Amino acid sequence: MKNQKHIRAILAFLLIASIFLACNRLTGTPTVTALPPTTKPEPTSRPVESAEPIDPLAGSSGLGDSLFPEFGNGGYDIQHYTLDITVNDVSTSDLTAITTIAAKATQDLSSFNLDFIGFEISGITINEQPADFERDGQELTITPSMLLQENESFTVTVQYSGSPDNFISQSLPFQTGWVTFDGGSFVLSEPDGAATFYPVNDHPLDKASFTFRVTVPEPFEVAANGVLTETIDNGATNTFLFEARDPMASYLATINIDKFDIETMESESGIPIRNYYATELPATVRKPFARQGEMLTYFGGLFGPYPFEVYGSLVLNTEFGAALENQTLSIYGIDMIDPNDVAGTEGVVAHEMSHQWFGDSVSVADWKYIWLNEGFATYASGLWIEHTDGRAALDEWIRSIYETVAANSEHFTPPGDPTANQLFNGGVYFRGALTLHALRLEVGDEAFFEILRTYHEQYKGSNATTDDFIAVAEEVSGKDLQELFDNWLYSEKIPPIPE
Ligand code: TRP
Ligand code: ZN
Repeated sequence: MKNQKHIRAILAFLLIASIFLACNRLTGTPTVTALPPTTKPEPTSRPVESAEPIDPLAGSSGLGDSLFPEFGNGGYDIQHYTLDITVNDVSTSDLTAITTIAAKATQDLSSFNLDFIGFEISGITINEQPADFERDGQELTITPSMLLQENESFTVTVQYSGSPDNFISQSLPFQTGWVTFDGGSFVLSEPDGAATFYPVNDHPLDKASFTFRVTVPEPFEVAANGVLTETIDNGATNTFLFEARDPMASYLATINIDKFDIETMESESGIPIRNYYATELPATVRKPFARQGEMLTYFGGLFGPYPFEVYGSLVLNTEFGAALENQTLSIYGIDMIDPNDVAGTEGVVAHEMSHQWFGDSVSVADWKYIWLNEGFATYASGLWIEHTDGRAALDEWIRSIYETVAANSEHFTPPGDPTANQLFNGGVYFRGALTLHALRLEVGDEAFFEILRTYHEQYKGSNATTDDFIAVAEEVSGKDLQELFDNWLYSEKIPPIPE
């Protein structure tokens, strides 16, 4: 019986994997890009002058990601975003907003870019002075009235309104970013949806802290990353203020609007937990979240102290076919929760929670290193099986995912070097997890968990590459592990089962 529930947990993931595999069929689907504002030109904007010579002091329009060269921008570093959003109509997500960005120039800048999709921009300021801007697809180019000097701190405000565009990711066959559904809205942005609701340096390399000030009509409520510090009753509307003080990758920012039941608990290790359940959901959806405190304590022991000030889960009253590890607040489509399979669903809960260490705290330095997120989180659900049911149950779980991958190898890419439209291929998840298990068997349990803790300790709040992880593994274990990683991460042929 036990075995069956673990197989079910795997099947849940296979379902996700098969959705991701469907991306293949979507290859060639154009990404939805923003149209320039259609109304009258604003006094502060300037028509695009074509064939302008390339300005050496212009910040670059990408951060050099190997899979997504246009993601993010160069020439500056953002410290803090304040997202001030008033949702006028929840059913359409019609909103008016001001995003305020505190940044620092990393070079002399005559202009710089943000990533931003859709909306009508009514004005941009830099250091309170109106600035010129132009738009081309998701690139918003801003030209300050005076050159920004290297190391200069500056403040940008972007004022905009409209409803977020529907956006299909380059990597996934479903809508990401700000999604409006019947009853509310949610935000799931990995990897490229963030620009659908705020102007952003959209690459995990530029982490920042966030303030969310979101105003919604009664009786709606807001759940965002971090700590709810204030709720202001304005009469017909309420304003919710959230502070996410720890550095966060742009794709992990989330704002969810619905009516929620809030459940609070605390881990033995003292981490406060707040869960948001859409009010229409039955109480049984809470069951797989009951052991989150124990999970936080368990993973804290294995990976090092939980890296943020709060944790929790949010269950949407809509199907989404996936869950996402938004920082401090993981989000689940209702179809990810099976109250009749608590152990299987706990596998998903463990997966998203472990991403707080691997993915959120330590983030990829380039999207091609995605196995450092997904392989680790997949293995963490195996670790939870080991915790609850013992080592033999983990071994059996390993055997079933190995057999699945080996029997369908053409669908599971080697995890170390995926393409943009196979970013979330099942190979990144399953073969990524098997890579860690192979490492564990090679170096032994003590060294293995020391490697995980050292890696997190060394790169927390920051970014890492596959080679960074390998270097830690070799240093801690004192072994040459290049061949093991080469075979598991890059070779077309899957190595023999680790046992
Ligand atoms: N990182 C998610 C996971 O834990 C998968 C995922 C990627 C996702 N992009 C997404 C989920 C967008 C929801 C929306 O496996
Ligand atoms: Zn994941």
